[in-house]
Amino acid sequence: MSLLAIHVLGSPVLRTETTPVAGITDDLRRLVDDMFDTMRAAQGIGLAAPQVGRLERIAVVDVDKDPIVLINPEIIVESGTERAEEGCLSIPDIYGDVTRSAQVTVRAMDLDGKVFEREASDLLARAFQHEIDHLHGKLFIDYLSFLKRRGVMARWEDLKEKYPGQRRILARATIPGSDEASHRDEIL
Ligand code: NI
Repeated sequence: MSLLAIHVLGSPVLRTETTPVAGITDDLRRLVDDMFDTMRAAQGIGLAAPQVGRLERIAVVDVDKDPIVLINPEIIVESGTERAEEGCLSIPDIYGDVTRSAQVTVRAMDLDGKVFEREASDLLARAFQHEIDHLHGKLFIDYLSFLKRRGVMARWEDLKEKYPGQRRILARATIPGSDEASHRDEIL
């Protein structure tokens, strides 16, 4: 497994629609392995293919040590609303409250090519919605109010200097006590 560079806000791939996966290949399995590896190194709980510069319709999620691969996922049922803070591995150090469906059922394909359905609530439901948004070029900051979003973009003007080429290069070792570590439950 290897760590992949994470594309950050401003990289066009994050705004690009993905392409449905037609079949499972070795290349795809490797991508999924690398995505899990990268997500964990970054202390996130979800990661979508565009975040590592790929346009296959794939995301990985791991909430409460329950790794889930989502290939061609779609939300088929949703109910309720819930507002909570979110962050994104592609927009480091920026957080915001987002209202999402409280419960969802997702239909997706797994790495064996089998279609499955999975019901989720709370953080897992939020992770599913956040990652599926990524697969359609949408980011959590799109849900913020005009003023909040303007504030975020102003902050990002300074933060983005840390990411030359709009890429975030991870190291295996993470620094405990960093701002990200305290937020790790909400970074998707
Ligand atoms: Ni994200």
